Amino acid sequence: MTTAQTSPTTSTAPPPMRLRELAFGAACAAALRAASRLNVADALGDTPLTAEQLAAAVRTEPKPLRRLLRALSCYGVFAERPDGTFTHTDMSRQLRTDDPHSLRDIVLWCTEPWTWDAWPRLDEAVRSGRNVVQELYGKEFFPYLNEDAPESADVFNRAMTTSSMQSARDVAAFLDLSGATSVADIGGGQGHVVASLLEKYPSLHGTLLDLPRVVANADPRLRAHGTLADRMRLVPGDCREDVPVKADVYVIKNILEWDDDSTTRTLSNVIRAGGPGARVVVIENLVDDTPSMRFSTAMDLLLLLNVGGAKHTTASMTDRLTKAGLVIDDVRPVNPYLHAFDCTVPG
Ligand SMILES: C[S@@+](CC[C@H](N)C(=O)[O-])C[C@H]1O[C@@H](n2cnc3c(N)ncnc32)[C@H](O)[C@@H]1O
Repeated sequence: MTTAQTSPTTSTAPPPMRLRELAFGAACAAALRAASRLNVADALGDTPLTAEQLAAAVRTEPKPLRRLLRALSCYGVFAERPDGTFTHTDMSRQLRTDDPHSLRDIVLWCTEPWTWDAWPRLDEAVRSGRNVVQELYGKEFFPYLNEDAPESADVFNRAMTTSSMQSARDVAAFLDLSGATSVADIGGGQGHVVASLLEKYPSLHGTLLDLPRVVANADPRLRAHGTLADRMRLVPGDCREDVPVKADVYVIKNILEWDDDSTTRTLSNVIRAGGPGARVVVIENLVDDTPSMRFSTAMDLLLLLNVGGAKHTTASMTDRLTKAGLVIDDVRPVNPYLHAFDCTVPG
């Protein structure tokens, strides 16, 4: 039996069925996760394959694999042809590990086991305004991830690597650091942004501050014997406790989405470390200026669940930065989904 190709982006179902479809959103997320973990996209090349051929390649039962692919095809992820074979679509191709724009690790990150523990408690989080991770696992999200869920931490780091490698080039192209001698990336993950900046400015010195387990896996260019190691300092630490780094420019990208207390402490540590005249560039995805409200509002709710945080609007980010004591000189888009708040520590 062949399945009619349903429109990948819009459903033509009447509202009661559409609501049912939405309520089954978890099935779509689970199907994406299953296909990613089974590496189905890697097994499918340019030649269409039957479910039996794919099942042999990824070592599953053919009938359930066919059902999985049929479900995903309804969303435009893989396509079923009239002869019953399956082909790639633009979206399924991005589940391949070797695709230059691969989103496989991001799909895994968005569907990690902890998310399935947390989503059912969204009503609690909405009632209390607090994260649910503390109650679920007895500790804050990042310590939980790094200490108790190393596989999820690795998925997170790989997902961050994917998204920050994609955005690091844009950030480096956007930021004019001529005249600066040093830059520090606070909560900079594995350091793709700072590495791109050091490559752009051959005499610039850089520092990466992040949690110990993250810094230990920094971009190889930044570690001992790496191409940029002689201009680089790696600082394992907690930016809410201390920012022991003096630099001309501080970059803080996709960090200030957690709870307000953590934001306030981080900003005041950066201001103290930089001193008057230091430049602080805060880069965030804004929920009021985004190419996808569905994605941004979903991330906003996930941030409430895990760190009691939120995606910012231009106004809420401006408010936090101003209250911390920074002077905002400029707010500009870095690319269609990132905005930079260019600030100075006043004298
Ligand atoms: C969403 S990621 C952003 C990473 C990077 N700035 C980027 O844009 O690609 C958040 C980062 O904050 C780091 N982080 C979380 N808590 C931290 C803390 N208390 N001190 C320093 N870094 C922290 C995480 O390890 C992670 O690398």
